[in-house]
Amino acid sequence: MPDLQFPPGFRFGVSTAAYQIEGAVAEGGRGPSIWDTFAHTPGLTRGGDTGDVACDHYHRWESDLDLMARLGAGAYRFSIAWPRIQPTGSGPANPAGLDFYDRLVDGLAARGIDPLVTLFHWDLPQALQDEGGWANRDTAMRFGEYAELVAERLGDRVKMWITLNEPYIHFALGHVQGVHAPGLTMLSDQLPVVHHLLLAHGLGVSALRRASGAPVTLANNYSPVWPKSESDEDQLAAAMYDLVQNHLFTDPILLGQYPPGYEFLTTADVDSIVMEGDLEVISQPIQALGVNYYNPSLIAAAPEGDPLPFVRLDIEGYPKTAFDWPVVPDGLRELLVGLKERYADRLPPIWITESGCSYPDLDDQFRIDYIAGDLAAIRAAMDAGVEVHGYCTWSLLDNFEWAEGYEQRFGLVHVDFDTQQRTPRRSFEWYRELCTAAAPRP
Ligand code: NOJ
Repeated sequence: MPDLQFPPGFRFGVSTAAYQIEGAVAEGGRGPSIWDTFAHTPGLTRGGDTGDVACDHYHRWESDLDLMARLGAGAYRFSIAWPRIQPTGSGPANPAGLDFYDRLVDGLAARGIDPLVTLFHWDLPQALQDEGGWANRDTAMRFGEYAELVAERLGDRVKMWITLNEPYIHFALGHVQGVHAPGLTMLSDQLPVVHHLLLAHGLGVSALRRASGAPVTLANNYSPVWPKSESDEDQLAAAMYDLVQNHLFTDPILLGQYPPGYEFLTTADVDSIVMEGDLEVISQPIQALGVNYYNPSLIAAAPEGDPLPFVRLDIEGYPKTAFDWPVVPDGLRELLVGLKERYADRLPPIWITESGCSYPDLDDQFRIDYIAGDLAAIRAAMDAGVEVHGYCTWSLLDNFEWAEGYEQRFGLVHVDFDTQQRTPRRSFEWYRELCTAAAPRP
């Protein structure tokens, strides 16, 4: 166990997301989501893998909660599948959908684990995509209604709300690169998608605050940006990358304005997209900032003729996860300190809502070192004045890693996807010591 002191009340937990673990995609009245459509389109996921069964958590949730209790987790961050609550993305709630999460939240309370609930972890109801998805302003309005339905039912027990998970990744991979659902490759006029995601966040904050006293946040994926060289071209490319990944989905929320230079995201008149009053809705106070961290970004100017102005290069000289992602724990310190510098007093307390690594072995010293590296980085950031309240590792279970299918294994617990057998890895035991030392269970 790392010999690091965290203040009393600092929470250690685990994260998951609905489409990645639940399965049971046609049960309990759930409607199809864009990820069902995407994963069932031949050639889009590794080996044609889908989330149809995933970890079968929909049927095994009680034993999965028992695993978390054994871990001593102080918090569990999970997401609600919007198409379980509103199968077509609008209208009254589907009672069976709400009942499932109601039982889950009660099950967590019974085990002394705080529920941290994400409302949108990328599984948009397909019916909303058929009407334009996030390019359509109405989708933001629908999200506000959905948030209200969930908060009315669970708002008395949820300990923190996370409106959106990684809107930048959903935008970039799903709407620009086309490698995630909905599989779009929009090279211009991206601003409506960005803006409607942000507006959904804001309308979600309003609804959640109306129906629940719990703190509200969103989980952004941040990455410290390292320009490849001192050249003007690489510096400019790095600044643009920094803008889209790190500032685009944070400045409007914390500063009430888009970062300077964002206009390149559209060829239309900005005022036709960003309407009067929108930024006030978007910048309502949030009580925490969720940070997901995986690795830094080494950025160079793109070669002539490339559709995007920057390229992300491989980072050499660091250990690599099974996903080939460089392990740079200090990048977490760097980004946390960077957030504090940029947002100063406007920065609410931080929760690390995700960090983790893909590594297959049961004897996973690699994952232990990874988490220990994160914790040292967080401790260093706290020593530098950043307020951090908790850490949720990604993930409790091996699960459906989006376009990578079941190949990449991020779990403290190994899952045999043929038998659904769960086997805790060595990191589980190690993390258990940390969790129990931090928050002794009754
Ligand atoms: C962040 C995403 O929120 C999560 O769904 C994903 O599995 C992890 N990154 C690992 O790629």
